[in-house]
Amino acid sequence: MALKLIWHGHGTWSLHTEDHKILIDPFFSGNPAADVSADEVEADTILLTHGHGDHVGAKGDGTYDIVDIAKRTKAHVVTIYETANWLSAHGVEEVTGMNLGGTLKLPFGSVKMTLALHSNGLPDGTYGGMPTGFVVEAAGRKIYFAGDTALFSDMKLIGDIVLDAAVLPIGDLFTMGIEDSIRAVKLLQPKHVVPGHFNTWPPIEQDATAWASKVRHETNATPHVLTPGQTFDLH
Ligand code: NI
Ligand code: MN
Repeated sequence: MALKLIWHGHGTWSLHTEDHKILIDPFFSGNPAADVSADEVEADTILLTHGHGDHVGAKGDGTYDIVDIAKRTKAHVVTIYETANWLSAHGVEEVTGMNLGGTLKLPFGSVKMTLALHSNGLPDGTYGGMPTGFVVEAAGRKIYFAGDTALFSDMKLIGDIVLDAAVLPIGDLFTMGIEDSIRAVKLLQPKHVVPGHFNTWPPIEQDATAWASKVRHETNATPHVLTPGQTFDLH
């Protein structure tokens, strides 16, 4: 059974199995790269790596895409404990708070919460807990969503899990850039690697073709550069 990974621009992704629609870091309103709107995207599970405005879809008026989508779809939201409490306070009904190193079984498989080197203040100033990433196990495959992160050597430990694919930021400035993402691929050793968190705005513009060339020449992974709305089929 194929897994479909769809890029919605920036750090926003959908992962579809035959029966389930997993949405990661829903940022649609104000996302100039988004291929769909918060009103139409489908989800039964939402994974949130951290609560920055460009991951919860902060609209600037105290409302958030993630809250709207969770209420409309009744999706189950999974995130770090403190950010989960914040979502509950904003009226999201089905939320599970977890923490680093924990694994949660879900209808499609499981998610494991991983370390990310970043920050996690919520848009209204609330403390959001640690920033995170996820290893998603679905349809017999393991995919690592790094979230917003710098390079860290413990990526080697995450790679020991044996990853079918890794989704890594390459935009620089707020996360790893191209050079460090190549070092990350060497530590993670995924079969496939997909870049994100770039080209949304001028400060994080990157040459993804040059990145893909480096991946092919310097690592054992196969790069897959998507454009927003494009799907990568992981067989
Ligand atoms: Ni962030
Ligand atoms: Mn971000």
